[in-house]
Amino acid sequence: MEKKRVILTGDRPTGKLHIGHYAGSLKNRVKLMEEGNYDEFYVFIADCQALTDNVGKPQKIEDSVVDVALDYLAIGLDPARVTLFIQSQVPQMAEMALYLANFVTVATLERNPTLKEEIKARGMDASLPVGFFTYPVSQAADIACFDTTLVPAGEDQSPMVEQCREIVRRVNAIYGSPEHPILVEPEILVPKQEFCRRLPGTDGRAKMSKSLNNCIYLSDSSKEVHDKVFSMFTDPTHLRKDDPGHTENNPVFIYLAAFCTDEDFARYLPQYRNLDEMKAHYERGGLGDVTCKKFLFQVLEGILAPIRERRAYWENHLDEVFTILNEGCKRAERKAAGVMDRLKSALKVDYLTNEAYKAAQRARYERKD
Ligand code: TRP
Repeated sequence: MEKKRVILTGDRPTGKLHIGHYAGSLKNRVKLMEEGNYDEFYVFIADCQALTDNVGKPQKIEDSVVDVALDYLAIGLDPARVTLFIQSQVPQMAEMALYLANFVTVATLERNPTLKEEIKARGMDASLPVGFFTYPVSQAADIACFDTTLVPAGEDQSPMVEQCREIVRRVNAIYGSPEHPILVEPEILVPKQEFCRRLPGTDGRAKMSKSLNNCIYLSDSSKEVHDKVFSMFTDPTHLRKDDPGHTENNPVFIYLAAFCTDEDFARYLPQYRNLDEMKAHYERGGLGDVTCKKFLFQVLEGILAPIRERRAYWENHLDEVFTILNEGCKRAERKAAGVMDRLKSALKVDYLTNEAYKAAQRARYERKD
């Protein structure tokens, strides 16, 4: 039997999505959707995962669920081709996490590099919630619950997908056989270009983060994007236009590398054919930051203006958004329920629907007199 191609990915609803998400993952999703080379495609809002480090902040998650749903629709994910849903509304995902937790050791979780980094960044020591510590298990369940074969995500997610693969292999080794695997081992798909993998903040810090106020959001107005781009950190040694400049670690050039195309040059900055020529001029001296920022603003607007327009439509049709999510949750639940049934019967926790089990128990208690 030909294996189904199932794509699944998601985001924690802890704020609106920004251009770092777009470069690192969202753009890729739209491309995968347009290529159409899959049988099922799920994109979900990981609210349960968001709650693992946001107890006591329900309002933030509650609002972000809608913000992220709007962002999904705004980037062009088409609900007819992609199932959009909310994690907490598909109880099989939580159920599967409970069973999968028995296939992972604490020591393995402690070695997960992404988890380690997050625990450190949040300064969780004695305050580390059990739910946060075990979220890689729950994420493995998110993936395994749909027989996912491909997870398009940022590179930081690769330890999570690796963790899922390990769990799936253990489940299959113990409860299945090579001919009859129980769960499906997924692969990760990270964006190809190195510079897309993590976009720095507009202030030049390593990461875009809401708390640092250094993000450009997909939902920002044209004026907000303009103001953010024109106040971006660049090369502090490039004081005058004629000074030689540095393009590495210069967020303006990192953003350009992630977003601009040769067509953008032809259209807005025809004195260069491509980014290499522009960079060479900046490095030589003679190219001012304002010219670079103006170009970057035009490039970003080329991407963000259509997103903004679609977002405005959905903001005005929120009831349609709720209907889309509701239908997505139902479709996701149907799929997850089938996979969950398969796992439960492999784990022998299908007592009441398993006739052979019931017959065997009857035989044990059959009167011998
Ligand atoms: N960990 C992802 C993030 O932080 C969200 C997520 C939860 C996810 N479950 C997933 C991503 C399953 C891909 C597959 O954004």
